[in-house]
This record gives sequence, structure tokens and C-alpha cells, in this order.
Amino acid sequence: MAADTTTYDPVTTSDLSSAYRSTHAELQAWVDEVAALTKPASITWIEGTPEEWVRLTDELVEAGTFVRLDETKKPNSFWCASDPTDVARVEDRTFICSVDETDAGPTNNWMAPAEMKKLMTELYDGSMRGRTMYVIPFVMGHLDSAHPMFGVEITDSAYVVASMTVMARVGRQVLDKIEATGASFVPALHSVGAPLEPGQADVPWPCSDTKYIVQFPEERMIWSFGSGYGGNALLGKKCYSLRIASVMGRDEGWLAEHMLILKLTSPEGDVKYVAAAFPSACGKTNLAMVEPTIEGWTVETLGDDIAWMRVGADGRLYAVNPEFGLFGVAPGTGWDTNANAMRTIAQGNSVFTNVALTDDGDIWWEGMTEDAPAHLTDWKGRDWTPESEELSSHPNSRFCTPIRQCPILAPEYDDPNGVPIDAILFGGRRKTTIPLVTEARDWTHGTFMGATLSSETTAAATGAVGVVRRDPMAMLPFIGYDAGDYFSHWISMAKNNDESKFPKVFYVNWFRRDEDGGFLWPGFGENSRVLKYVVERIEGKVDAVETPIGLVPAAGALDTDGLDVSDEQLAKALAVDVDEWKAEIPQINEWFEKFGDKLPAVLWTELDALKARLEA
Ligand code: GTP
Ligand code: MN
Ligand code: MN
Repeated sequence: MAADTTTYDPVTTSDLSSAYRSTHAELQAWVDEVAALTKPASITWIEGTPEEWVRLTDELVEAGTFVRLDETKKPNSFWCASDPTDVARVEDRTFICSVDETDAGPTNNWMAPAEMKKLMTELYDGSMRGRTMYVIPFVMGHLDSAHPMFGVEITDSAYVVASMTVMARVGRQVLDKIEATGASFVPALHSVGAPLEPGQADVPWPCSDTKYIVQFPEERMIWSFGSGYGGNALLGKKCYSLRIASVMGRDEGWLAEHMLILKLTSPEGDVKYVAAAFPSACGKTNLAMVEPTIEGWTVETLGDDIAWMRVGADGRLYAVNPEFGLFGVAPGTGWDTNANAMRTIAQGNSVFTNVALTDDGDIWWEGMTEDAPAHLTDWKGRDWTPESEELSSHPNSRFCTPIRQCPILAPEYDDPNGVPIDAILFGGRRKTTIPLVTEARDWTHGTFMGATLSSETTAAATGAVGVVRRDPMAMLPFIGYDAGDYFSHWISMAKNNDESKFPKVFYVNWFRRDEDGGFLWPGFGENSRVLKYVVERIEGKVDAVETPIGLVPAAGALDTDGLDVSDEQLAKALAVDVDEWKAEIPQINEWFEKFGDKLPAVLWTELDALKARLEA
């Protein structure tokens, strides 16, 4: 496949002042309609130029939303603290407003589209008063892709504009192409829901107690209200690239997944591409940039959160990362755990939200360094010392950084056709039951593994933390339609294509614990040993043994050379405990029953076969 090396380079071709009128009639009509409803003080079309970034960020500093970091430490970078109530995705306020309720399925909130539109139209009425309404033309994936995936976000938040500029390809070049080709686009409307009356002073982080994150799947449209937080407000990311795109993928025969993409090169120079789906705050960004601890193996990054996968002309599954930046969990990111993320943010051009601010104009969070600085300003703006009772940074605090700054970004990132995936990993955070690595027998079994994926909840969404829940393909909060239909779509992907060309599927768990609560597996860089095992399984170089739940490494198959883990501990990490699995069966059964007729029969067959093998 010819690599297309075209890179995205925002260039100003004309001034997009508030008087700008788009030649794209549908776009201009929508902008006019939203402006008439939300009644902003002014309109700004986003060009994506460096000058515009300076203007915007200066305004954010002026408004008290941003604090500029020290130029010598984090050039062109900003510290930002959200309202303490607006720190994560709000799953209970997220809706799939399909025409038919059944199309939202049992895992999504639903409301009739007309009812939701009526309700939200009242909320949007005048919601941008006293604010600037920004129009952000963007494309998810490459501008020169065979299927450019356009969107336009309208927002009244300059924080959202700055973040979207990092996270997606935005601006004049995109608008030019939308206008020149008359392309359709996903309209994505966002308001923080905090209008300003004349003379009313603004707050650093305007938001509303009333929040709605709404997808209209048939119309390919997004409405978001009340939150400024990334996953709720940067509408190109979860709302478009997962919820809306998953529906497009269902209709058009491709997959939009919550997956990292990495390139793994062996000492002999053989290249493999791996995609991995782990729930939020379960290790995607870490694995995407992992520094292998095994001699001669290298990892390069293609994506850390979202993969769009289409079957190529050769029958293989090709993945692209639709994003342009990294929106990574800050706490736990340090030189010991993710040095490449540290190198990426060290170059600056970043926004840090809800981390701590150091006295010398840099940022810090738990896990960045072993010792905390003697004094910090915490994410709530208070004095903080190592004696403080609360954490300095919110557990879901984030860095927002251009992916181009990642020192191990694979050159294939610039290929609009993506990379052929050799293996898909599913994984979650489970203290018990799930072994370090299990291989699926075939695609259907792999789909069963994905469909039954479970994980303990994290701070990435509001709600209780540490509760085991099913998170199918790590997509529970992101499937834009009925999850039973989604499983059928996964099954049909292999049925409608040549399964022998499809990736092998594995289930991993870095988070299994011993009796004392410690991790059985050291994780992070050592996860490269599992990647090596996966590659060697694909190449038929190492053996696996059959167990009731799938194939696990034969003795000696996992490279443990130089690994500081006792044989006993390793055995526990790899063990298939039949009793633990028997206890899992009723939970899986209950989970599958949720989907009624929509659950593909082959998944019941998989469950029955698993039950039978456990009883044998
Ligand atoms: P989202 O960006 O929210 O989708 O999450 P993510 O999957 O990218 O999560 P991320 O890589 O940021 O990991 C978040 C947490 O997992 C951090 O607290 C890490 O320290 C922890 N983590 C990542 N990899 C490992 C590992 O191999 N072992 C252990 N024990 N913890 C890990
Ligand atoms: Mn994510
Ligand atoms: Mn991440």
C-alpha cells in the first residue's frame, strides 16, 4: 500500500471574521439557526492558525480560565482547573436519541428525538448570551482520506476551541474542503449553558448543573449542554468518533472502537500492528507508548484511544486513529511508567486540566515523581503540601497534547489507509479471575471475550469507583446503538469477509491481585512480554495450552528472562481458576439476558460451551 505522507498543516487563506458567510448552504443555514436560537454576542469561525491560538489562549489567561506555565518548563502550555462538579463524563446524562427506543438498546439512556429536541431547544434558547459563538470546522482522520469524516462543532467555550485545536484537525483547510466538495458533516452543538447578562462577571469555568450529552444517530447529529469537560464537550472525540461513528460503521460495514493502535517491531525487524480495547483509565495510553523491557523489541504509537477499522482490498482489517492529539489521564503518568508521555508533554503546546500547579509555574500530579514538591496549588486552587489529606490532582485530571510531539509516533500515522491489524487485545481491571493473557480460538470466541469484558469502574466517569461491571469491548458508554446489534455486527464482520485474514483476539489483565492486594504482574514496560508472546503466537513460534476459557501460554512460552517476579506469583497471574470462572457464569448469563432476541445465538452457544468445559 502506497504510504501517503501528506501531513496536515493549517494555513490561512482568508480572514474568517464574524461576517464570514459559508458557500456551503446547509452549513451556513445551521450556523444562522443556532445563532438565532442561542443569541451569542458574536460569532467567530475557527481558522486553526498559530496566531489564532495565541489570541485564544491569551483571552483564556485574561479570563482566569488558563494560567500560563513557565516558558522554560512547558512552553506555550496552560494550567486549567474546572468547576469541581464538572470533572468527568456523565454517563447518566448521556442519551442515544434514536427514532425507535429499541435501537438504543438496554445499555443506553433514551428519549424520543422530538421530546429531547424540544427540551434542549428551551435550554439553548439564549444560552450563549454575552458569549462568543465559535464555529469549528473539523475532520476526524485524514483530510485526504478516501472517506473524509467531517464535522462542525459550534461552541461557546474558548477552552473547547483550544482543546479541539489540539485533538482534531480543524480550521480553514477543513472548511475549504467541505465547501469545495459540498460534503456532508456531523453538526455538533455545544453550549456550557451559562449565559451572561449585561455587566455580569464571568467565572473561570462556566457550566450548568443541567447536563445533556445527546446523540441523534439517524441524523448523525450531536447536542451537548451544560458541561465543559473533555468527553462531554470535545464533540469530535467520544460523541462523534465512537457513538455516531459506531452507527455509521454498523450501516457501512466497519468498526469504530475504543482502542489504542501500536506498531511492534521484533529484533529481526518483523512488524506487527496491535489494537487494544481497555475501558477508560485502564491502560490504553500507557500501552500505546510502552517502552519494552525486552531486548531488541520496539513499540511505536499510532493512537491511544480510538481506532476506526475497515476491511482493505486485501481482506485485512486496517485501522486509523481519527484523532490529532492525546487526551491522557495525568495521575500515574511519570518517567517510570510512561516516559514517552512525559517526553510528549515536555515539548509544551498543551493544556493540563485539574492537575496541581507548582510554585515555579510547572505542573505536578500524583505519580509523576516519587516525591511530591513541598508546596503546590491543588486542582481546587488551594495550598497543598505532602501532608494534605486530599490528592493534589483530580484522579481524572488530563493532559491535552499534540500527538505529533510523541517521540515514538509511527510514520504510518500519516497513512490515510491505516495499518493492517494483526492482533486485537481486550482487557479490563479485574482483581481476580481473569488471567494475564488468554487467546481466543477464533473470531466468534474473540467476540464472546469482548462481549463479556468486565472491569472495575474508575474515576473517568462520575459514579462509584471499583465496582465490577460488564463493559463490552470497552465500549459500554460509547456504543451508539443496541449493544446486542453491535455484537451481531462484530460477528458479521468476519462472516462477511475472510476470517482467516482477520486479527487474532486475546484477553489480557494487568490488574490481577494477590491476597495482600498487590499487583501480581508488574505491568507497564513488562507488558511488552505479553506483546511478544502475542506476536509469537501469531507466527506459530510458541505453544499454548487449551483451558476451558481459551488458550494460555505453555510453560516457557512467555519470555520471563530478567523479569523480577517469582514463579509462584507468575503462576497466579496466569492461572485459570475453575471455581472463580464458575462464579462468573451467572453474571455473564444475567448480562446476556439483558439483550433478549438481539443477542446473537452464537454467543449463547459460546457460553454453553464454556459452562460445559468448566463442568468437565
Ligand atoms: P482513557 O484515556 O480514559 O480511555 O484511559 P486509558 O485506557 O488510556 O488509561 P491510561 O493508560 O491513562 O491508564 C490509567 C491508569 O492505569 C493509570 O493509573 C495507570 O497508572 C494505570 N496503568 C496503566 N498500565 C498499567 C499496568 O500495566 N499495570 C498497572 N498496575 N496499572 C497500569
Ligand atoms: Mn477513552
Ligand atoms: Mn487514554
